[in-house]
Amino acid sequence: MSKLNWGMIGGGEGSQIGPAHRLGAQADGRFVMAAGALDADPARGRDYAQRLGVAADRAYGDWREMLAAERDRPDRIDLVTVATPNNTHFEITKAFLEAGFHVLCEKPMTMTVAEGEEIVRLARDTGRICAVNYGYSAYPMVRQMKAMVAAGELGAIRCVVANFSHGHHAAGDDADNPRVRWRYDPAQAGVSGQMADCGIHALHLASFILGDEVRTLSADFASTVPGRVLEDDAMVNFRTESGTVGRLWTSTIALGRQHGLDIQVFGEKAGLRWASEQPNQVYLHRLGGRVEIMEKGEAGLTDEAQRLSRVPIAHPEGFPLAIANIYLDLANRIAGAPAGHLPSAEDGLRSMAAVHAAVASAKADGAWVDARPPMFR
Ligand code: NAI
Repeated sequence: MSKLNWGMIGGGEGSQIGPAHRLGAQADGRFVMAAGALDADPARGRDYAQRLGVAADRAYGDWREMLAAERDRPDRIDLVTVATPNNTHFEITKAFLEAGFHVLCEKPMTMTVAEGEEIVRLARDTGRICAVNYGYSAYPMVRQMKAMVAAGELGAIRCVVANFSHGHHAAGDDADNPRVRWRYDPAQAGVSGQMADCGIHALHLASFILGDEVRTLSADFASTVPGRVLEDDAMVNFRTESGTVGRLWTSTIALGRQHGLDIQVFGEKAGLRWASEQPNQVYLHRLGGRVEIMEKGEAGLTDEAQRLSRVPIAHPEGFPLAIANIYLDLANRIAGAPAGHLPSAEDGLRSMAAVHAAVASAKADGAWVDARPPMFR
């Protein structure tokens, strides 16, 4: 298959998620990094893009310049990744979709539900791919869990418990750290801090594994560090469309938890447990039996779990490879080849509706509210 041209906006030098995208996009040799507007500072962005191997005339100072120049090139980029802070996702994603580019947007996809609905409609109308980087859903053992739930191996699902809690913003004096500051600034982060930053990964994972979307929720938000406007800890109870009970805890002040994304699914016949810090194992407990450990790469897993296992059994597999699985299926989809699941603009929209519902619920003392976007009610 011919190589696809890839461009990136944001993800500049020192950014958190930029390296995972570059590793992920280029892991399979399907994408070439052809263009970039990588930094809020135009000179830094141009310089860094060139050091990464982008040609000088495609190392752009900002995304508008990149859009104007790429639009008319015969070798224009096939896919653009948007990895800037949240408040810019909507206008960049919208502009590139309108110009006919495929987009991989970082989460949260937009700031408001109305913007999310606009992106979904635009992606549908233009026929362009708008994927959202819920990379955790592309771990092979997460796909294994999804397949087992779908096959009924757990029986009817009673409850799902998901956490994404870490302690990396526990220090109040971190307020001036540029990578922390925007996450609690409503102008740049939106209506929510930690729920929109990490909680939505856990919520997406729950609905992805269950194959069942969130219908209603009740939230309790807290800003535990003095001076923080947005929440740094949240507890969210939810119910899915089919009535499964959901519990979600997300926090940034949980000292002792590093990258505390984990999920447990409890069915009437069995339970499953997975944690992102040990992504190669799923713990399976059948009613009346003992706990079994299922290992990535071993015989008997689903074809999808095998396809997305990139290193042999017993070798560690990590986050950039999960992101690589997103890029692999983006390349397949763009090339018209068979592809697996891609987290979509619809997923991004559902997250925005859930974030806004959680904010409204938290302000109303945990009242139960509809968590679905209006267009999916
Ligand atoms: P960061 O603050 O570490 O880096 C942001 C980068 O974007 C910087 O290089 C900055 O110069 C650049 N930038 C800012 N405005 C820009 C503009 N207008 N044009 C071009 N570049 C611009 O932020 P981080 O943590 O990398 O987050 C970026 C996005 O990725 C956020 O939306 C965040 O929620 C998301 N994210 C997603 C993760 C995932 O697992 N899917 C993990 C971490 C972040």
